[in-house]
Amino acid sequence: MNSDIKYRILIAWCTFVLIIFQQNVRSEKITFQKENYTPDYSFYHNVTSIVSHMTKIVNKYGKYINLKDEFRSKAGHSQLVIRISNFTSEKSGRDKVQILFAFGEHAREFFPVESMFYFLKNLTRGLDELHQGSLSGAYSAWVVNNFDIYIIGMTNPDGRYYLEESGNYCWRGTGSGIDLNRNFDWNFAGPGSSKDSHDEEFRGPRPFSEPETGVFIKLAAKISFDAFLSFHSGIRQIYLPFADTKSKQQNRLPENIDHMLKLARRMSHSSPSRPFQFGLAHRLIDYSADGTSFDYMAGVASVPFSLAVEMWGHENHTGSSCFDEFNPRSEHLQEEVALVHPLYVEMLSYLLTWKTRKSAARNRASSTLIRVRKDNSLNSEHQQDVLYASQTSREISRSASFESQIIYVIFALVVTGCVILGVRHTCQLMRKKRIVSLKSLSLTFSLCKHL
Ligand SMILES: *[C@@H]1O[C@H](CO)[C@@H](O)[C@H](O)[C@H]1NC(C)=O
Ligand SMILES: *[C@@H]1O[C@H](CO)[C@@H](O)[C@H](O)[C@H]1NC(C)=O
Ligand SMILES: *[C@@H]1O[C@H](CO)[C@@H](O)[C@H](O)[C@H]1NC(C)=O
Ligand SMILES: *[C@@H]1O[C@H](CO)[C@@H](O)[C@H](O)[C@H]1NC(C)=O
Ligand SMILES: [Zn+2]
Repeated sequence: MNSDIKYRILIAWCTFVLIIFQQNVRSEKITFQKENYTPDYSFYHNVTSIVSHMTKIVNKYGKYINLKDEFRSKAGHSQLVIRISNFTSEKSGRDKVQILFAFGEHAREFFPVESMFYFLKNLTRGLDELHQGSLSGAYSAWVVNNFDIYIIGMTNPDGRYYLEESGNYCWRGTGSGIDLNRNFDWNFAGPGSSKDSHDEEFRGPRPFSEPETGVFIKLAAKISFDAFLSFHSGIRQIYLPFADTKSKQQNRLPENIDHMLKLARRMSHSSPSRPFQFGLAHRLIDYSADGTSFDYMAGVASVPFSLAVEMWGHENHTGSSCFDEFNPRSEHLQEEVALVHPLYVEMLSYLLTWKTRKSAARNRASSTLIRVRKDNSLNSEHQQDVLYASQTSREISRSASFESQIIYVIFALVVTGCVILGVRHTCQLMRKKRIVSLKSLSLTFSLCKHL
């Protein structure tokens, strides 16, 4: 071979390395990972016991809880949509605080579903004590008489079935790998999602392509919810809209931001010893997320309070396993779900006060319309919250950009090495050894997506 051909082979080879490397940095492939820790199903629910437990509850407490079994997944599994209210009270749904909770959008996040069962256990035990004059009974009566709560108990049953059958505890999407929290019609197909069906943020072919997201539009079309909450795990943070790329660039805020911040602060301090971090999603997180449920509910469905709540996170997770990154160990589960329960209590109490004041104000005068806020200013009392949030995000993005800088420096060295040395055996050596190590390097640096 003459040296010209050798040089061309070299260039082609280096280009190849570049492409492979960039792909590894950019997309997070869904990988099957060896688990260090798997759940004990005598502590955690599995998909079978989720269904049977929920069925038991609705059968026993039909006066206050009923099942809307028509909402089903692509594979036909029930999404366990329930409604909680005192169905015999004179107050109509609209006079109560109407709320939508969504649990289990992401298959590997078991914790929020367990937290929902704790919430239901608290409520139903109180209902059992209604006539004994206990405080628990009074609390449950307060809930059913003042609130009309819709719960999507298992937003993504197919994904959960798949996870349990395959033993792949890293699974996040539906049965066909679609990330439901990228499938909503708000900045759909933006860069904070993926068109690659092997990526864990695969958004699907078009907005609302999945029957699992249909339930959100149908319920929102029928009911003017006062609040929507999407529950997740992986970290302990409370996010306010918006999380999408455009809003991040434009610093867009939802209309009701001042009240939302107040609510988030109350929820954050429901756990006084370990308050949750909270703030605008686009300032708290270092990535953007396009097509999410809570952005849609705030921006399109005009729900006054729309939040994503990350309920639990491992303090110092390392390694490649997933279950223990998103969920506490089996023996700590009961203690952890009890610790987050005050979050619901504070939320309900805040929302009832808000709605009562709002109804009083409406009776006096004008109605409120929720729109995307035009000025990007905040009440001064909230500047602090947002500052707090942006400081956190600056820290996160600093470390993230430091990581990507290292990656690109290494990469530049590899390419320059290839070109300058121009020695074939250097590249041959790299073909075997370096690519493997660079790949694992980029996986190590890939930031975990929980929202
Ligand atoms: C699901 O959990 C129940 C206990 O709640 C257990 O009896 C059953 O065997 C589990 N099913 C599977 C498939 O693990
Ligand atoms: C539900 O409403 C009915 C009718 O107002 C009332 O009699 C009943 O006590 C209420 N249930 C609870 C748990 O408060
Ligand atoms: C449910 O939670 C409320 C609020 O924390 C509490 O007052 C009540 O006693 C709890 N009910 C039961 C049965 O534990
Ligand atoms: C995190 O690490 C510290 C010190 O290494 C340890 O004491 C603590 O238990 C760890 N936290 C968790 C949740 O594992
Ligand atoms: Zn999630």
